Amino acid sequence: MILKQYYLGCLAHASYLIADPTTKVAALVDPQRDIDHYLEEAAALDLSIQHVFLTHFHADFLAGHIEVQKKTGAKIYLGRAANAEYTFHGLKDGDVISLGEVELRILETPGHTPEGICLLVAENAEAKPSAILTGDTLFIGDVGRPDLLASVGVTAEDLAGMLYDSIHQKILPLPDSVVIYPAHGAGSSCGKNISSETFARLGDQREVNPMLQPMSKDAFVEKLTANMAPAPPYFSYDAQLNKQNRPTLDENLEKTLKPLSLEDTMRLGNTGAVLLDVHTADEYAKNHMFGTVNIGLQGSFATWVGTMLDPKTPIVIIADPGREQEAATRLGRIGFDSIAGYLDGGMNALKERDDLVRSYQRSTPESLAQALDSDQPPLVIDVRTLAEWNDTHIEGSLHIPLPELEARMREIPKDRDLIALCRSGYRSSIASSMLERHGFTSVTDAEGGILAWTAYHVGAGPQ
Ligand SMILES: [Fe+2]
Repeated sequence: MILKQYYLGCLAHASYLIADPTTKVAALVDPQRDIDHYLEEAAALDLSIQHVFLTHFHADFLAGHIEVQKKTGAKIYLGRAANAEYTFHGLKDGDVISLGEVELRILETPGHTPEGICLLVAENAEAKPSAILTGDTLFIGDVGRPDLLASVGVTAEDLAGMLYDSIHQKILPLPDSVVIYPAHGAGSSCGKNISSETFARLGDQREVNPMLQPMSKDAFVEKLTANMAPAPPYFSYDAQLNKQNRPTLDENLEKTLKPLSLEDTMRLGNTGAVLLDVHTADEYAKNHMFGTVNIGLQGSFATWVGTMLDPKTPIVIIADPGREQEAATRLGRIGFDSIAGYLDGGMNALKERDDLVRSYQRSTPESLAQALDSDQPPLVIDVRTLAEWNDTHIEGSLHIPLPELEARMREIPKDRDLIALCRSGYRSSIASSMLERHGFTSVTDAEGGILAWTAYHVGAGPQ
C-alpha cells in the first residue's frame, strides 16, 4: 500500500495520498487547495486519483476537493450528515471504498463537527486496519475543538459529548498497532495542545494523550471546553466556503494576479483595499510603503492574514518580483480570493517616490533596555497571547493580543514612542505596520522579541 503524508507548515495541515500499488487507484484525503504536487506525485507513480475525501468541513483552510475533482474527475466523499452545494457521495459507518486490494473503511465520528468521519486503512479485505486517518477528531496529543460550530445551533458541550462517544466507541477499541494520521499538527487553532509529531501509534497515544486518559464523559466535556482560545475570525468563512461551489485556485489566480502601477495601487489603497507587504520584518523595517500591512511569507502567513484581514476586502500584494504568485497561492489556501493585483516591480516601483517610503530601526534588546531606562521611555506594546504574557513580560508594557489590536487602538497613547513586541519578531512587525497605518508616528518593533530580550538578560547576568 502507498500512504503518503504531506505536511504544510504554514497551516500546520496534513493531507494524504493513499493508493493500491497493483491497481494504481489512488485517493486523496483533506487535500490543500493548491494540488499540483499531488498530481505530480500521482503522475510519477503512474497513479489514477479516483476519490477525494474531506473528513469534515474544515474551518481553517479551503480544501482542494473541487480542484481535484475538476482536474482528475475524482468523486467527492463527505460524511452523510454533510450538506453541500456540489455533488458528493455521503458516507456512513461501515461503508468501504476499495482501491483494489487496499480498503478504506468509514467510521462516522461526530464531535469536532457533526458530519466528521475517520478512514480506516487496511491492506486488504481480511487484514486488520494498519492506519486511521482521523481528520480533526483525534490529534497527536489532543482532540479536535468542539466549538467551531457552536454558533449554528449545536453547543460546544453537545459536540464535546459526541466527540467522547466517537472516540470511546469507535477509535479506542482499535488495536494498539494502528497508526494515527491526523489533519493537523502543532500550532493549529483546531486544537489546544497538539504535539509536534505528525503521526503516532494508537497504543502510544493511549498512554500519553491527556484526552484519552480514563475519565467520565462529563469530565471530558469540561476539560475540552475549558480555556478555549477564540477561533480566528476567518474560520466561519472558510467552513462555509468548503460547502460551496466556487472558482478553483487556478481560475481565480488567472483572473486576479495582475500587475498594477503605483498609481493604481495608491488609488486602491485610498478606496479601502489593503496593501499587503509580504516581505520579512527586517526588510519591511528598512523599506516599506506608507499605509501598508506587513505579514511576512516566512511565518504563519495564512493564519495571520486570516486573523487580521477581512476575506472580502480587496488585497494588493507588495512582494519581491517573482514572489507574487506564492503570496496569492497562500492567500488562496484560506479562500482569500479578493486579490486586486500586485504592485508591478514591488518596492522598486517607489524608487522615485521617497515621499511614500518609510523605514525604522528595529530595536535590539540592548537599545530597548537603554530606551526603557531613559527619561522618556517608550511604551512597549506586547502583542502575544495571554498565556505568553502570563509566562513572562516586560514591566510597564501594555498587553494587547495581536488579534485585538485593531479594535483597541484607542487605548494606545498618541504622545509616546511605541515599540511592538512579540515572541520572536514576526507578529510585532504586523503590529507596528498596523500602528503606523493608524496614524501613530513613532513606531518600531523589537527584533527577536521576548526570546532575544530574555537571552540578553540571562547573558548580562544578575544586575
Ligand atoms: Fe477542523
